[in-house]
Amino acid sequence: MSGTTLDAPLVPVSPTTRVLACATDEIGEVAADVVATVAPDGVLGVATGSSPLALYTALIRRRDEGLSTERLRLFALDEYVGLDADDPRSYAAYVRAVIAEPLGIPNDRVRVPSGSSPADAEAYERSIVEAGGVDLQIVGIGRNGHIGFNEPGSDAETRTRVVELDESTRRANAEHFDGDLSLVPARAMTQGVATILSARRIVLVASGAAKAAALRSALLGPVTADNPASFLQRHRDVTVVADLDALREDR
Ligand code: GLP
Repeated sequence: MSGTTLDAPLVPVSPTTRVLACATDEIGEVAADVVATVAPDGVLGVATGSSPLALYTALIRRRDEGLSTERLRLFALDEYVGLDADDPRSYAAYVRAVIAEPLGIPNDRVRVPSGSSPADAEAYERSIVEAGGVDLQIVGIGRNGHIGFNEPGSDAETRTRVVELDESTRRANAEHFDGDLSLVPARAMTQGVATILSARRIVLVASGAAKAAALRSALLGPVTADNPASFLQRHRDVTVVADLDALREDR
């Protein structure tokens, strides 16, 4: 394990969750140590957002140093409804520019949810199954405990579907839309909680005090749809890579 991991300031309820507490600038390398184990040809579930950026940077550096990543297969967690895949604000564009292209992964090995019909959602679920399932799923956590776009109220049985985004989520993401809330799509297609939990391993990355309350109740609180990340307590192999601000008491 690279970097110096610090003692975790909290002990998760679930014995199958391990917490790697580290300095903010070590998150990428520590998470990459875990994620790189699916190379060279595993099925990697990828999250968007700012939390995993350092992890992707670390993977790209490792590719430059000889890690073989071209044969990985990628499945994204979610996508806005109504944004074209060519729109730079779409998650399809993020996955291409930030992950797939720098890792040398061709388009035919990359899947991002698209469309808005139940048939589109079912097709996405099927494509994951046909790939043999996700070996390792990277997730971030929303300030309200969402994983993917599974907002509070999403239960453990949910599968890929179209959801309405919470206003708080749209506000948090408005920075990617010139700060204009009215430009943030109201709906998204997301893998469900059950879809995420079907991955063989899960790595959650979180940093900063804004995530502390959600992360703390996800790890220590009851398993409840009020905090969809708490369902991770039911998974058999979860690694949380987080900085001390994200792991401290709520504030
Ligand atoms: C977004 C995404 C999630 C992401 C989360 C946190 O809304 N749908 O997949 O994990 O919010 O984003 P960030 O890491 O930028 O805080």
